[in-house]
Amino acid sequence: MRQELLEKVKSRRATVGIIGLGYVGLPLARSFARVGVRVLGFDVDVGKVKKLNAGKSYIQQIPDATIAAMREQRFEATSDFARLGEPDAILICVPTPLTEAREPDLSYVVKSAQSIAAKLRPGQLIVLESTTYPTTTRNVVLPILEATGLKAGQDFFLAFSPEREDPGNQTHSLDTIPKVVGGLDAASAELACAVYGTIVPKVVKVSSPEVAEACKILENTYRAINIALVNELKLLYDRMGIDVWEVIDAAKTKPFGFQAFYPGPGLGGHCIPIDPFYLTWVARQYGCTTRFIELAGEVNTSMPAFVVSKVGDALNERAKPIKGSKVAILGMAYKKDVDDPRESPGFELMDLLLKKGARVTYNDPHIPTLPTMRHYPHLQMTSQPLTAAYLAEQDCVLIATDHSAYNYPWIVEHAALVVDSRNATRDVTAGREKIVKA
Ligand SMILES: NC(=O)c1ccc[n+]([C@@H]2O[C@H](COP(=O)([O-])OP(=O)(O)OC[C@H]3O[C@@H](n4cnc5c(N)ncnc54)[C@H](O)[C@@H]3O)[C@@H](O)[C@H]2O)c1
Repeated sequence: MRQELLEKVKSRRATVGIIGLGYVGLPLARSFARVGVRVLGFDVDVGKVKKLNAGKSYIQQIPDATIAAMREQRFEATSDFARLGEPDAILICVPTPLTEAREPDLSYVVKSAQSIAAKLRPGQLIVLESTTYPTTTRNVVLPILEATGLKAGQDFFLAFSPEREDPGNQTHSLDTIPKVVGGLDAASAELACAVYGTIVPKVVKVSSPEVAEACKILENTYRAINIALVNELKLLYDRMGIDVWEVIDAAKTKPFGFQAFYPGPGLGGHCIPIDPFYLTWVARQYGCTTRFIELAGEVNTSMPAFVVSKVGDALNERAKPIKGSKVAILGMAYKKDVDDPRESPGFELMDLLLKKGARVTYNDPHIPTLPTMRHYPHLQMTSQPLTAAYLAEQDCVLIATDHSAYNYPWIVEHAALVVDSRNATRDVTAGREKIVKA
């Protein structure tokens, strides 16, 4: 069984199934399609499936031409989960969000495992890619698959391999980033390594799925904590009149022992604000508290309020209250140059300002309309055209995301006041008296 699948993978005759064609699943499908592997993508969203099969993309960073090329290669999307018996290897890339109580919501992973179980056949390899707490593969996915009567390591194979996709990053992509793989047993590890070996430059085999799961959480928690550190320093240095960005730029000239992280208006995206909570949740099951991580979460979630306080102070300086003032937020995506607003601090900024009575609008070249967000269903707006007149009529322009498409000298030229939470205006020379860093 193992040998047969291994040979199929090595000769690229194996079909790869990908469940969840999102920011993670779609680039993965592209990488396999590119090397000539047949890819069957599964998604519950029939709209996405239709679009993809018509050769159209729905993610800005992936052009239509790429999807069209994938279609010509051997990529097909489907919402028919009865076809899960077709692929030889199935990679699960579904969301792992938090519940209302901020606990891990594994319902998407469980549903995917159940769909696979319904069609599981001997000789299939299943890999969980969704970010989650250590033990999920063994304690959540494995029992669902083994309830079929088939045995892992013998009839089918199971592994965890975390995704390291960084949307918008032009330097690092799937084709250049090493992939960590942890198999439930030696055969599962070998097969999963072979599958990824066809698309990534380096596969890092670890001893278990738990190590691979814990590795991903370490990477993201490391970011969350370091961002919290510079956010805390920003608050202190702001009071002391020291520019934290200049401090970081100076510190990063040290060639060892320091990695630069930058402050911002709050955490955003699908990973960094969410994943540490997966770890704190599982830690509680083991009778541990992760105080360090929770503290980082506290610091990071307080940042939008700090930015709004800077907007209030800056308006106050100009003898204006927040109430009734026109505030334009620039950038609602969670980070520069992406069209993804998930968990973006822009929503919290907008909400806080509206609650204080500001007349808020926004511009984001990547987000023409705000999607309905679970925690902010009342924030329904469309992006305003960014014109000199629009900027001039604002009492304050708040830079929430530093998209490259923005012409910062031009923005400062036409705005009366710019509150910059990203140091996006660092190189602007004219009109510096109008800029407040936040
Ligand atoms: N976006 C990133 O930068 C990134 C990076 C690393 C890891 N991750 C992790 O990867 C996982 C996926 O994230 P994403 O950003 O790709 O999410 P996404 O929301 O962009 O994509 C998920 C896709 O899964 C589909 N889906 C939902 N339920 C499904 C089901 N039961 N069956 C089939 N399809 C289903 C959705 O329609 C959507 O297209 C998450 O665990 C996330 O934490 C994301």
